[in-house]
Amino acid sequence: MEKYRIAVIPGDGIGPEVLTEGMKLLKTVSELDGGFCFEDVWFPWGCQYYLKNGRMMPEDGISVLSDFDAIYLGAVGYPGVPDHISLWELLLTIRKSFDQYVNLRPVKLLKGAECPLKDVRREDVNMTFIRENSEGEYAGSGSWLFKGKPNEVVIQDGVFSRVGCERIIRYAFETAKKEKRSLTSISKGNALNYSMVFWDQIFSEVSKEYPEVETHSYLVDAASMFMVKDPARFEVVVTSNLFGDILTDLGAAIAGGMGLAAGANLNPERKYPSMFEPIHGSAPDIAGKEIANPMASIWAASQMLDFFGHEDWGAKVLLALEAVLTEKTALTPDMGGRAKTSETGNAVREALRKLSK
Ligand code: NAD
Ligand code: IPM
Ligand code: MN
Repeated sequence: MEKYRIAVIPGDGIGPEVLTEGMKLLKTVSELDGGFCFEDVWFPWGCQYYLKNGRMMPEDGISVLSDFDAIYLGAVGYPGVPDHISLWELLLTIRKSFDQYVNLRPVKLLKGAECPLKDVRREDVNMTFIRENSEGEYAGSGSWLFKGKPNEVVIQDGVFSRVGCERIIRYAFETAKKEKRSLTSISKGNALNYSMVFWDQIFSEVSKEYPEVETHSYLVDAASMFMVKDPARFEVVVTSNLFGDILTDLGAAIAGGMGLAAGANLNPERKYPSMFEPIHGSAPDIAGKEIANPMASIWAASQMLDFFGHEDWGAKVLLALEAVLTEKTALTPDMGGRAKTSETGNAVREALRKLSK
């Protein structure tokens, strides 16, 4: 029987609460299928680990993770440890070390999920966001000069390489071609006169290889307006690291909320493990109350199933989420319900069992 080895990094705040449900869901899938199984190894890395050990993960953390088929991550960051340390030493280090240059984030309004926009049909909110995930504004390059002096200066570089831009844009074209949908590039060439002019140029170059794909190009300010006013314009979307970060939280808001939004950090060449996670953070405001919505983590588990080639199960997990969203009896408070995290998790697994009969 095929066995998938999953490194589970629950992390901070609500991370452990939601991943517990996600991992249970994956085990239910494997039981129902009978042809594959999961071995989950949990790593207690995160802010508490940092406060004890002075680092977010052990020195050989990356090499330990490299032996796994996938990483399943909850959330990183908690008051008490500066965010730029906790995120750079764990989440961002994993994305970069494993060259997970594709951040795939569905912005799709599931049946039963509430959309805050007026006059929008459910099928109008159905985007596949492809966020560059290895460089750009997140390159981590810069300097801090004359620290604490009156002439203090900080410089944060945006690093856009030809290889980096081409591979993400080409991945997006391949996705659009496969899905037979249009591709929209979101950039900001009018103000960012080096990086985004370069991005636009590469988008136009690569588009010549894909005459069958309909393309659009928007400035990021207008794109954020259109996502709210006319979301049906967007199908497959490709954008830079920072723009993708911001626009996918906006996407989460129009597609049912942070409690539902998932993302996959992919190394498409499969040279390194890919990582699956909810896109929300550790939510310190609700941590420990057992009211966090596990649906985003469950959707990320569905993306993992897709990546392993079990798209039939990936799709069935989304149907199970839709069943629970539509029934509305086991929803957490962010979705207007009163259920606990585990009650929502149970309901999704129950729905999946019913769907599989
Ligand atoms: P957040 O996503 O943690 O929370 C924003 C709001 O959404 C909060 O009101 C929270 O209660 C709510 N929310 C988020 N997920 C929810 C869920 N599953 N169910 C119900 N409500 C949910 O963002 P933040 O408050 O800006 O960040 C908190 C910490 O998390 C910071 O340290 C930040 O750096 C970190 N962070 C980590 C990740 C990650 O690990 N991938 C992502 C974003 C933020
Ligand atoms: C996300 C998060 C991260 C990002 C942070 C926590 C570094 O917001 O995954 O969306 O900006 O990529
Ligand atoms: Mn984000």
